[in-house]
Amino acid sequence: MKGIILAGGSGTRLRPLTGTVSKQLLPVYDKPMIYYPLSVLMRAGIRDILIISSRNHLEMFRSLLGDGSHLGIELSYAQQDEPRGIAEAFLIGEKHIGDSPVALILGDNVFHGAGFSTTIAQAAARLDGCELFGYPVNDPERYGVGEIDAEGRLLSLVEKPVKPRSNLAVTGLYLYDNDVVEIAAGLTPSARGELEITDVNQAYLAQGRARLTELGRGFAWLDMGTHDSLLQAGQYVQLLEQRQGERIACVEEIALRMGFIDHEQCHALGRDLGDSGYGNYVRELARRAAATAAAESSSAA
Ligand code: G1P
Repeated sequence: MKGIILAGGSGTRLRPLTGTVSKQLLPVYDKPMIYYPLSVLMRAGIRDILIISSRNHLEMFRSLLGDGSHLGIELSYAQQDEPRGIAEAFLIGEKHIGDSPVALILGDNVFHGAGFSTTIAQAAARLDGCELFGYPVNDPERYGVGEIDAEGRLLSLVEKPVKPRSNLAVTGLYLYDNDVVEIAAGLTPSARGELEITDVNQAYLAQGRARLTELGRGFAWLDMGTHDSLLQAGQYVQLLEQRQGERIACVEEIALRMGFIDHEQCHALGRDLGDSGYGNYVRELARRAAATAAAESSSAA
């Protein structure tokens, strides 16, 4: 499965923070925002990922993340000239997708909860059409809102409904089979001139091939579109990291745990991160992995 991170838009609701910096590069406590969606794709085992952003921000993403080889993944970049809707990602990313299924994630979404990678893996394994993820919110009118049956089949879907029929917001992680490229190519722009992701999902719904998995209690889904939600996401991450001593969305750690890099490569990444707390954490992970590898090879001998 291929991955796409959509990190475009002009971040108008976050001005002046987004005056010169892309929204998806703003700090969420100890790391840039894009680490969070990137870590979701990596934990799902997706290693070939396209980052889409606007022309004036692409270079910043490239200088932060490069070609991804240091993390044992492949990153490529593409430009979205104007914010013409989430579904345009499939047209911009057509070559990247090729004949594979694809996971699209919005660059400003944080997902955090035990077992999430298993949830994604299960959804990917049964993928026939589209797999969406829903989250109960108290302001569903701000989102795409879905209704499902007991088996998780999508029954209805409305974008930003005035009178929501459920409190289940459609989150910014979407899994699609390869038909998505053709569906996106056939879309008519909405009244606001955008290719709407909800119209893509409606097309799958009309074919009876749309499912939605509910991410329930004990799970956190945060988007970071406003000053308050950005700060709250940072505070959430700070609270959990300080309490547990483990970092959320540490891409070096995920690369190590997924076997994309070994402890020596991880140590080199930690060294490059210098004497920040984050750098110390990455070096400590590498040290522990080295000790485990040494213990394993001496017990095998
Ligand atoms: C978009 C989608 C919406 C979805 C939301 C998730 O909304 O159109 O269906 O619920 O992302 O973050 P937007 O952020 O473009 O208003």
